[in-house]
Amino acid sequence: MNKHYETIVVGAGVIGSSIAYHLAKRGHSVLLLERGTIACKASSAAAGMLGAQSELKEGDDSLFQLAKASRAMFPALSQELKQYSGIDIGLQQKGIYKIAANEGEREELLAYGEAQRNLGEEARWIEPEELQRKEPAVSSQLSGALFLPNDGQVSAPDLSKAFALSAVELGAEIFEYTDVRGLIKEGQQVTGVKTNRGDFDADHVVVACGAWSEDLLGKQDSVLDMYPVKGECFSVKTRRRLIQGTLFSKGCYIVPKAGGRLVIGATEKPGTFEETVTVGGLFPLIKEATQIVPELALAEWETAWTGLRPQTEAAIPCLGPHPEYSGLFIASGHYRNGILLSPITGKVIADLIEGKQVPHEWITTGNFSHRGVNL
Ligand code: FAD
Ligand code: GLY
Repeated sequence: MNKHYETIVVGAGVIGSSIAYHLAKRGHSVLLLERGTIACKASSAAAGMLGAQSELKEGDDSLFQLAKASRAMFPALSQELKQYSGIDIGLQQKGIYKIAANEGEREELLAYGEAQRNLGEEARWIEPEELQRKEPAVSSQLSGALFLPNDGQVSAPDLSKAFALSAVELGAEIFEYTDVRGLIKEGQQVTGVKTNRGDFDADHVVVACGAWSEDLLGKQDSVLDMYPVKGECFSVKTRRRLIQGTLFSKGCYIVPKAGGRLVIGATEKPGTFEETVTVGGLFPLIKEATQIVPELALAEWETAWTGLRPQTEAAIPCLGPHPEYSGLFIASGHYRNGILLSPITGKVIADLIEGKQVPHEWITTGNFSHRGVNL
């Protein structure tokens, strides 16, 4: 007979791994199933920015609250994950500069900064001369920057692995190379999953399959209305650390990592599962990045990669219990902010499984049409 688990989490990206971690920490029996290896998809492609203020726009109100709550969890989480897994997630709290390349962008960012301050958030305008003093490698041709001191960054692959290995340390089991092919149900209750290595039973099943979540939940009847958004990135190395904070312009971002590495991203191509790196994708990124930091032209090439961001038509993550099947939860559609949102997503799903109160505006599964379940 199969071992019974309280919760099976499908997908060991940063979202599934965070959920497994939060549940294991609370003493639940958890099985995390992954068709490839831990964080083999979007979660290792990410630049790792914690861009609550730099990524989200006005109007994203409840998403902004969710993002801020998640960003605030990182300092304590970084210590905890280090303690359980031995992995340093590379948390850097040196802020993000939203770069103005011209007068039009300067006006936009000045207005955005004021709107952020009116919300009680920190956002400081930096004139070009001050930007040059703070970040001397940045071009003198820019029109200033909006500095968001509370946004930061982590190493995305390390964060995902730290969640997963900490979960194991706390008693969770992980099976890699295990493809979940369907959900098992009795009436309106989901009771387990079918995989290439047999069936597994559980009280709760969480679908955290990123861009592939719709495949498992049933595409035919339009479940989540999800689509992938391909992103291409590259990295270079320099002997001297060129920048301290992350630079974020309309055309690219430049994220300084440990050991003189710089991650530069990213393109956006919706609606494709194709994962090749293209010259046409990288060329505009290289051009824009070297306009912002001219010395980058002398940096040593390291590598390039792609990832598929999971996006929903509603442009918000799909979080919470399935409206029609009990025992089934969804945590997907984190689009550009899955690394940032991973701690709060893990906490929210663990709270819901334990029957705890969660701010109702964070539970979005009711906003989606859920007719299909792949059984
Ligand atoms: P994934 O990481 O894709 O994980 C889903 C997992 O489920 C995969 O490992 C997959 O193999 C597995 N799976 C799928 N189907 C099955 C199945 N049937 N059975 C078993 N396993 C299955 N976010 C930020 O916050 N900050 C950033 O700076 C940032 N930069 C980014 C840069 C790029 C280029 C890209 C592409 C994304 C970036 N993101 C960033 C977004 C972030 O990477 C995603 O939102 C996040 O990784 C999504 O995590 P996930 O766990 O939902 O998906
Ligand atoms: N958040 C950065 C990206 O998705 O490219």
